[in-house]
Amino acid sequence: MFEHLHELPADKIIALMAEFRADPRENKVDLGVGVYKDASGNTPVMRAVKEAEKQLWERETTKTYTALAGDPAFGKALSGLVLGDAVEDSRLALAAQPGGTGAIHQALELIRMATPDATVWLSAPTWPNHPSIIRHLGMKMTEYRYFDDENRAVDFAGMMEDLAGVKTGDVVLLHGACHNPTGANLTLPQWDEVATLLEEKGAVPLIDIAYQGFGDGLEEDAAGTRLIAARLPEAMIAASCSKNFGLYRERTGLLIAMAPNAKSTALTQQSLAHLNRQNFSFPPDHGARLVQMILDDPALRADWAGELEDVRKSMLNLRTKLADALRSRTGSDRFGFIAEHRGMFSRIGATPEQVAYMREKHAIYMVADSRMNIAGLNERTIDILADAIVDAGV
Ligand code: LMR
Repeated sequence: MFEHLHELPADKIIALMAEFRADPRENKVDLGVGVYKDASGNTPVMRAVKEAEKQLWERETTKTYTALAGDPAFGKALSGLVLGDAVEDSRLALAAQPGGTGAIHQALELIRMATPDATVWLSAPTWPNHPSIIRHLGMKMTEYRYFDDENRAVDFAGMMEDLAGVKTGDVVLLHGACHNPTGANLTLPQWDEVATLLEEKGAVPLIDIAYQGFGDGLEEDAAGTRLIAARLPEAMIAASCSKNFGLYRERTGLLIAMAPNAKSTALTQQSLAHLNRQNFSFPPDHGARLVQMILDDPALRADWAGELEDVRKSMLNLRTKLADALRSRTGSDRFGFIAEHRGMFSRIGATPEQVAYMREKHAIYMVADSRMNIAGLNERTIDILADAIVDAGV
């Protein structure tokens, strides 16, 4: 049977991770996969996570199953972090998922179950795994303009023009904060316009929020998502704890499905539990429990939020320094957008050839579409990257 399998396209981010690891050059710089690194290049376990793990080790008396949708206390804590008090809890169906990717996958399965003919609208560009999962599930998709390659900013007019073609029941996938791969984000008034359009069209938003706290702050980064949730009757939100809790390998995520009323919420909740059962039965609990313990304990929560804020500021600092380094080398403000973008990524506008050149000549790894992970930089490598960008003629 296996001879019937065919080669599948490699995920370009994961492939790049392997290429970087295989490169023997000592001075190599990894600006590829979206993993936070501190100034020494480490991805630390956050202090509050370590403390919660210690407490959990002492307190946990059983590893028996939780519930198909995961521990409700986790769902409540994380949906609270994302949504604040934008929506009544009674309208939220919640299901723990193996990471943000698991939450996206489950949201898409839920859409397919409810409205198999719906088209999913994706920003151009988007995280490559979005179209890949949609294709895998055999669903319909199309793109809307999002990024203006010239200005390296959101092409909002183009976005709204394209979204005017959305049909009732279609799903529009939006990045809640820190757009991946571009780093260019909607302003709050723009979120408001998007909400109005979705309302008018009777479309359903699916918000991927994987970087809350990495952009302008925990509350600020959730503002667009909260606005949408407060305005629309239905929405799906895929929340990830990989980055803001540093729980990458623990696979900790949540799918929030917001329904218009209690009856619809109960049906949706049951469907989510069913989907979990079909796909993996019970979701992983370790990371979810740590997140719940941290969010529900004022001291742990304050420590976590403080450390996250330091991480956010360190990335902003790297952005400013890189923009300055490029300003002094080019004598222009062409790269000023790097300081304006938010989150881990910026798409710098290099061609695939220029990206390959930087990899070969300067041992700098970024995704072929010229997405760089700003957190892969440090004070020393900023100059190396700035020189390489100029040398490559970007
Ligand atoms: C990324 O975009 O690099 C991250 O979200 C990691 C991943 O799974 O691709």
